[in-house]
Amino acid sequence: MKGIILAGGHATRLRPLTKITSKQLLPVYNKPMIYYPIETLVNAGIQEILIIIAPEYAGHFLNLLGSGKEFGAKFTYEIQEEPRGLADAFIVGKHFIGRDNVTMILGDNIFDHDFSHEVQNFTSGGHVFAKKVPDPQRYGVVKFDENMKAVEVQEKPTEFLSEYAVTGIYVFDNRAVEFAENVRPSDRGEIEIPDLYRQYLERGELKVTVLDGMWEDAGTFDSLLRVNNLMAMKNGVEKETLFDSY
Ligand code: TTP
Repeated sequence: MKGIILAGGHATRLRPLTKITSKQLLPVYNKPMIYYPIETLVNAGIQEILIIIAPEYAGHFLNLLGSGKEFGAKFTYEIQEEPRGLADAFIVGKHFIGRDNVTMILGDNIFDHDFSHEVQNFTSGGHVFAKKVPDPQRYGVVKFDENMKAVEVQEKPTEFLSEYAVTGIYVFDNRAVEFAENVRPSDRGEIEIPDLYRQYLERGELKVTVLDGMWEDAGTFDSLLRVNNLMAMKNGVEKETLFDSY
């Protein structure tokens, strides 16, 4: 199993914070945001990791993360020239993936879940993880039948589909590259990842697990603040210290 961290993008929702740096380099409590997805992959037992970055701040990532030795991993880097969409990770990463299976995680997604069981026991198909959220229209959404079997997936549905957002970690077999290459750009000009994993769903090979632990997509001011506070509290900081001023 190889790993990919997708850490490019525009990060328009965090401007002006992201005018002179990349979203994934912003702090989340006591470390840069990208440390969290790195740790999620490494803790799941993945050592070979490709980090996909935008050209503007590529040098900063290299300075910060280096070879990966410090994390017990081996990092490779690729530049994504334009943010073409999440499914593009598998096209940019085609040579890195080679003939292996791959777990892709978004560089701004923070999980409090140990994925080692899912990653180490993965054999084939696709495995994604859903979470009930109050604002599913922001995400890829999955609809389940009465047996909690996934029946439909849609990117940012305009009409209510379900409350289950698909989180930003995806475990796929090698066909992910070919499936990504089949995806046509959406109206917003991106190759959308639900259009990739729908191809597993249509073959009856998509497993969707509902996650128990915390998950945050740190891409907005509110979620970034929330995840900072959560991580501080996880590190033993008292709520009063965070919220009461002098
Ligand atoms: P998004 O949060 O969907 O996009 P964004 O980071 O460009 O932010 P905004 O919508 O505010 O403009 O991206 C999720 C993650 O994927 C994030 O870590 C950035 C990354 N990404 C890429 O690396 N390449 C891409 O083509 C896209 C769309 C996202």
